[in-house]
Amino acid sequence: MRSATLIGLLGGSFDPFHNGHLALAKAAVGAFSFDKLLLMPVGLPPHKSRRLSFSTFRVETARLATENLPRVWVSEREILTPGRNYTVDTIEKLLKEYPGIKIKLISGSDFLFTAEEWYRYEEIMSLVSFAIALRGNADKEASQRQADYMRREYKAEIDFFPMQPSNVSATQIREMLSAGTSAAEYLPEKVDNLLNTYRPYSYTKVIDSIDEDSWQKLNAYERRLFSYLGRERRLHTVSTCLLALELAAVHNVPALAAGTAALLHDLAKELPDAELDAYSGKYLGRAEGSPALRHGPAAAYLAREQFAISSEDVLNAIQYHTTGRPGMSSLEKIIFLADKIEYGRPFKDLDLIRRLAFAEGPAACDKELSLDRALCLCYEEVFAALDRSGHEICPLSKDAYNILK
Ligand SMILES: [Fe+2]
Ligand SMILES: [Fe+2]
Repeated sequence: MRSATLIGLLGGSFDPFHNGHLALAKAAVGAFSFDKLLLMPVGLPPHKSRRLSFSTFRVETARLATENLPRVWVSEREILTPGRNYTVDTIEKLLKEYPGIKIKLISGSDFLFTAEEWYRYEEIMSLVSFAIALRGNADKEASQRQADYMRREYKAEIDFFPMQPSNVSATQIREMLSAGTSAAEYLPEKVDNLLNTYRPYSYTKVIDSIDEDSWQKLNAYERRLFSYLGRERRLHTVSTCLLALELAAVHNVPALAAGTAALLHDLAKELPDAELDAYSGKYLGRAEGSPALRHGPAAAYLAREQFAISSEDVLNAIQYHTTGRPGMSSLEKIIFLADKIEYGRPFKDLDLIRRLAFAEGPAACDKELSLDRALCLCYEEVFAALDRSGHEICPLSKDAYNILK
């Protein structure tokens, strides 16, 4: 008779997922006959902590690091669950959805000493068993003693498994990357490439400067993006958002407005044509002729109807993000630009536009002028690209450019 399906569960913030996490997952897979090992990046941690990077980066680093490991899956379950995530809730839901499975929670030995601080820890101990990594000889005896105590006190089912000592720390990696130092030796190659492309840890300062309420809102919007966009477009979107937040700080635009417009700007991009048509038509009150331009108004419609966004400025920035228009507000300019120059964009020669947008260099004394010059240069690049591909330039863009130049 086949025994019950055994699921390994390894949760964490994975900010980023690094070689230490990878070694832990591999050692656990080697030690237990899991049918599946679920890596579970947390959406919003149970306790107030430092601000985590957007879920998209944390999920993607875990996925890239483990995509060739059989039976290892990255689960978006906690990301998709609104509000704070408690491990006990995740466990209860898994057990309810897949009756008869057995869950083994994978962790380092530090878990043994903090378990009694976890929310509803006695229930956790009654619902799952534990796989605890022992790294080298470190705290082996203390861990054994603590495990015996938990077995006695809570009837906890605890197994140990060995793994190589590891000195990798996510904090250290974030600090290195934010200082522009390579952290390649601590990261799987694909993770290192992703982090070097999108540079999420170069935005720590601007993220920490956002007020708590605005940050919570942006965090919740970003988690909802998983239901609308695939991974490539989500990466583009969160990258646009980070750049927009930084530009907003330079140009005195509220962070919440910039972050919201950036996160929602491509919301409609992956909809089937019929829906795109319908939403764009409802928002504009007429049909939009050009298929490439429908996703702006359609996204503004979704932002208003499904995200309850009421700010005209935010909705305009979303609607006009592809073309711009004459008389753009600072927010509209920032979203138009951030969309085109975020670090994931493959075009060369964006550096000058970025410097102008950030009002660096000789034009720094007049930030607005510098932003407009960035916009002009960006339009010229867009027009040249449209010309190369044989596409028409939108009259709105032409008018906007003629006024700015
Ligand atoms: Fe777009
Ligand atoms: Fe975009």
